Amino acid sequence: MTNKPAVKVFPTLQELSWAAAHRLENLARFGSLGGKKVFTLALSGGNTPRLLCQILASDTMAGRIRWDRVHIFQVDERTVPPDHPDSNYGMIREALLKHISIPEENIHRLPGDHPDRDEACRQYALEISRTLKVPEHEWPRFDMVFLGMGPDGHTASLFPGTEALQEKALWVRPNFVEKMQTCRLTMTLPVLNAAADVVFLVAGADKAETLQQVLEGPPGKFPAQLVQPTNGQVSWFVDEWAAKKLSPALRG
Ligand code: 6PG
Repeated sequence: MTNKPAVKVFPTLQELSWAAAHRLENLARFGSLGGKKVFTLALSGGNTPRLLCQILASDTMAGRIRWDRVHIFQVDERTVPPDHPDSNYGMIREALLKHISIPEENIHRLPGDHPDRDEACRQYALEISRTLKVPEHEWPRFDMVFLGMGPDGHTASLFPGTEALQEKALWVRPNFVEKMQTCRLTMTLPVLNAAADVVFLVAGADKAETLQQVLEGPPGKFPAQLVQPTNGQVSWFVDEWAAKKLSPALRG
């Protein structure tokens, strides 16, 4: 990492997820009060964000986020139908979407099951452009993006050594992941780096070694290190297990 990353260590995944939920609540409130009518959010899949989604759908959070002003997009998706157990959309729908009153048109599913993956990504980019009202030749600027990190340092579906890591033009694209012998659809680094606020949610002892390398090791080794918003903030919300190998100076 070039400058000192903003790392917050939480005793548990529960506390980490509550902090993430309150961050979204505050940014979304400010966003809509700040004259903007729409707050644009991009969610990752996997397991870690599930608790955040459940918290956002909880009674405690009821009424605290104006979901009618929030547009929810997906950072990435597996090439499976939405009812497949691996579907990121399926996780977000079960944990969050079916429990909140959010207009259908505010939910933007990335159709991993579309037979033409390039077309699916082209259509999704158009949906992003229309919703975020992206000026010509500019990158879409999401108000908030939640990312995870795998033990190999991947984020979104940008895995080490995969083609999409080099993408400089497309906003969303298919990405074949050799080691998993599967294709994923993913937002690309320029989109993630155009965001206003990026929060990594990282929990579990299996990520401690990689997290230390990502945050304190030489730059440019892991995809997660390449997320450095040009005009935005990146924060790392990590639990004690994932933070085990971080130096005291970094633990904030
Ligand atoms: C996905 C995610 C992916 C995820 C990491 C961490 O589609 O799986 O977008 O990038 O964030 O793999 O996953 P966990 O949170 O399950 O550890």
